[in-house]
Amino acid sequence: MITPSYEQLFENNRRWVESELSLDPDHFERLAAGQSPEYLFIGCSDSRVNANEMVGMRSGQMFIHRNIANLVVHTDMNLMSVLQFAVEVLEVQHVIVCGHYGCGGVAAAVDGSYHGLIDKWLRTIKDVYRIYHDELEAIDDPELRHQRLVELNVREQVYRLCSTSIVQRRWGSAMGDHVHGWAYDLRHGLLKDLEIDPADEPARYIYELDGL
Ligand code: CO
Repeated sequence: MITPSYEQLFENNRRWVESELSLDPDHFERLAAGQSPEYLFIGCSDSRVNANEMVGMRSGQMFIHRNIANLVVHTDMNLMSVLQFAVEVLEVQHVIVCGHYGCGGVAAAVDGSYHGLIDKWLRTIKDVYRIYHDELEAIDDPELRHQRLVELNVREQVYRLCSTSIVQRRWGSAMGDHVHGWAYDLRHGLLKDLEIDPADEPARYIYELDGL
């Protein structure tokens, strides 16, 4: 892969502006007037995971939050603020957690080595491993075990989203239609909907609100 020089980025930017304007002369003017995205995408920071491109979304269509290993941590004010703003103010219709096979963060969480500060961030993936310990230990092939952990990690993040008052207040028992878990395969670029249904695990939710 050829890495563009720093100056090249600005040249690329000018070309991109020209190409966007050639498709739609009002493109930037319209975007400057406001946003009403349909989706909130929570994905890994990995440079190979391109949120907009992989699903054919243009500027203004998807609100995006990324962190290492696409984690939903209830004390992460950054993600929780993004979630609250996207769900309550922008009124997105869908919240997506997208993991990816070959995730270095997921792998590092369970490789038994010291990586410094990042181990603190990845800590909750060890908990995912503990929850699904028996299922994961039954998989002999390390690559397949990693892939399954990536999927189960996404599942846990979906459950965490569903256990927030933000999601519960907006969608209640219909949350399964609006909160989704995906896995992206770097090797061929295809997405898989993991079809996670929060109703499968009702005992996980201690609802923060009455009547749900
Ligand atoms: Co990753």
